Amino acid sequence: MASLHPRTQLSKESVFAHMSRLATQYGAINLGQGFPSNPPPTFLLEAARRAIGAVDQYTPPIGLPRLREAIAEDLGVAPEDVVITAGGTEALQVLAESLYGPGDEVVMLEPYFDVYIPQARIAGAEPVMVPMRLTDRWEVDLPALERAITVRTQALLLTNPYNPTGSVFSRAEAEHIVALARKHDLWIISDEVYDELYFAEPPLSFRKMAPERVFTVGSAGKRLEATGWRIGWIVTPPGLAPQIAGMRQWNSFCSAAPLQAAVAEALPMARKEGFYPHLRESYKQRKNLLEQGLQAMGLKTFAPAGTYFLTAILPELEAETLVREAGVAAIPGSAFYIQNPAPKGLFRFAFCKTAQEIEQALNRLQAYLKQRAYG
Ligand SMILES: Cc1ncc(COP(=O)(O)O)c(C=O)c1O
Repeated sequence: MASLHPRTQLSKESVFAHMSRLATQYGAINLGQGFPSNPPPTFLLEAARRAIGAVDQYTPPIGLPRLREAIAEDLGVAPEDVVITAGGTEALQVLAESLYGPGDEVVMLEPYFDVYIPQARIAGAEPVMVPMRLTDRWEVDLPALERAITVRTQALLLTNPYNPTGSVFSRAEAEHIVALARKHDLWIISDEVYDELYFAEPPLSFRKMAPERVFTVGSAGKRLEATGWRIGWIVTPPGLAPQIAGMRQWNSFCSAAPLQAAVAEALPMARKEGFYPHLRESYKQRKNLLEQGLQAMGLKTFAPAGTYFLTAILPELEAETLVREAGVAAIPGSAFYIQNPAPKGLFRFAFCKTAQEIEQALNRLQAYLKQRAYG
């Protein structure tokens, strides 16, 4: 009897989809999966309405020229180095296929974003995980990072700002990482889908430090609150974009043409109209609401410097119990670990939800914790 390839073991439901399904089933407030409750900005929606009926056929796999130019202008890079993808997810998949294969290793940090492991394995490579140190904040264990590098290592895969920890690399961490990549001649994949979501200093750019070896991943979905549009990009080291786009053509061939045109129009508008500072301010308020609410219950939180995620310790609680009995969905820390143990009681909460949803989740959690304490 014909059977599916063993690789399909990687096809199991992600924890994010699982928790969202449970949230719907139990009528819980979903602070699990990271999709915004707010709609995308009007200028983006209007641009898309104009583009449908005007830009409807295949674009080149490398992307619609005007979108590549808009991204290049926004990031201060050359348009020839920009490849458009179906979201950050496809960008990461194409890079996995292009940079490593059987026998190779990819070094990443733990906790990690879920697509990194299956994508490395689909490409035939082995992920090697270096646990971050959790003191009062999340820190990179630089000596451990260097110890993880072997002759098989092809790339360092890093996230900045970081999902799930919400941390951004300090200058010392970033410079050390770049020095390691140079010393061991490694690629750096810098996943920067949250590049405009930070609460203090803007995150450092690995690309600026080592343009010859850094691939940067971006996402219009994250920047413009339209995660379902699936428009992302890669900025490649000089000269490599045609080959990366050549690999990309065997996946989705090209991204949705009218949505590429809409994002091309919206990116300069977002910059000109101060959309990102507005977005950051709005997220900062919701971050503070969640952080202060959890702290008021006596829970330990780790202040995020970016993204729309907050990590906290909820001792002796199971994620599935939380969704069923408290009516609040959050992602258990164990979902972000594969080789090292997750810190006990670690949860990730998404605050890309409305203030009302966050308040309601806090009320439910508080009532549940009280009932457990006295019950
Ligand atoms: C760190 C990180 N990288 C990549 C992605 C995927 O981005 P996109 O939605 O554009 O595919 C996500 C989405 O949650 C993410 O958190």
